[in-house]
Amino acid sequence: MLLSKKLKILVTNQKGGVGKSSLSANLAAYFAIEKDQQTVLVDFDRQATSSQWVVHAKPHPKLRAESVSQVIHGGNRLSLFTARSTIRDAASKADVLITDITWSPVIGPDILDVFDLVLVPTSLSELELLSTIGLLRDLRMGLTKSGAPKLVLCPNKVHPFQRKFNAMAAQRFPVPFLLAPPITQSKEFEVHYQKDFIIRAGEPEVQTRFRQFCQAIEQAAAFVPNTLSANAKPAGTPATEAMRVLHERTQNAPANSPVVQPAFEQIPSIIRAKPANF
Ligand SMILES: Nc1ncnc2c1ncn2[C@@H]1O[C@H](COP(=O)(O)OP(=O)(O)OP(=O)(O)O)[C@@H](O)[C@H]1O
Ligand SMILES: [Mg+2]
Repeated sequence: MLLSKKLKILVTNQKGGVGKSSLSANLAAYFAIEKDQQTVLVDFDRQATSSQWVVHAKPHPKLRAESVSQVIHGGNRLSLFTARSTIRDAASKADVLITDITWSPVIGPDILDVFDLVLVPTSLSELELLSTIGLLRDLRMGLTKSGAPKLVLCPNKVHPFQRKFNAMAAQRFPVPFLLAPPITQSKEFEVHYQKDFIIRAGEPEVQTRFRQFCQAIEQAAAFVPNTLSANAKPAGTPATEAMRVLHERTQNAPANSPVVQPAFEQIPSIIRAKPANF
């Protein structure tokens, strides 16, 4: 993939333990190691989990991390201003920027403007989904105004028995979203925690699945104007072709039809879903 513009990704959820830091660190590693993109991870968490992951894993010349905890949680104009300039400064020195933030209402949706993609990891437990739906309600303004970043829901810690579970029906969610291929529950995330990256050290099957997730995020960038060069657009690989077909199908779906929600194993890459009443 050739990025014609910097790609700025926010990984967030207000809920703890959904995999924000694991996804941030491992996605950053994918862009740096496999896509040869200068990548920076900006970690706003007090525990600095994802930046520590990058620091402790074997270094890679294209990957670095910054920990800027405290800045964003002030909840005033100054902290918002400082957070934005931190993100812009970091992005100016990289091709891909990934930001890990535990969401809190004091941050406010204005910060979203800085990003191209907002990734929200969530498990498929009903409790966590309801919490994610609540978060999206709070972020709705920031995710729907013109020029807003694209929302990508990222099912994580998915159990095999949940793969056919239609928990991600678009009608449940208050904003349109792209759906990433699910990341299954795997001990590999614990085994390599802050030691190495899934795409470098994970078991082959877990590596493959995680790579599919990362490729889907790259494809999501195609929905952001000017982010991808033309050669990454349709008529390319079977995956991009499948995405194009699904995209057209969902675009043309009647408003009240259950928007294409295939069983998870049939999701080829990434699909776009509009809630019925949107
Ligand atoms: N797909 C997965 N399979 C199994 N375990 C996972 C998976 N993703 C994350 N985990 C584990 O879940 C725990 C929480 O993950 P992580 O720290 O990435 O979440 P977080 O959302 O950043 O949490 P916090 O809100 O505390 O910052 C970790 O122990 C991690 O190893
Ligand atoms: Mg974290």
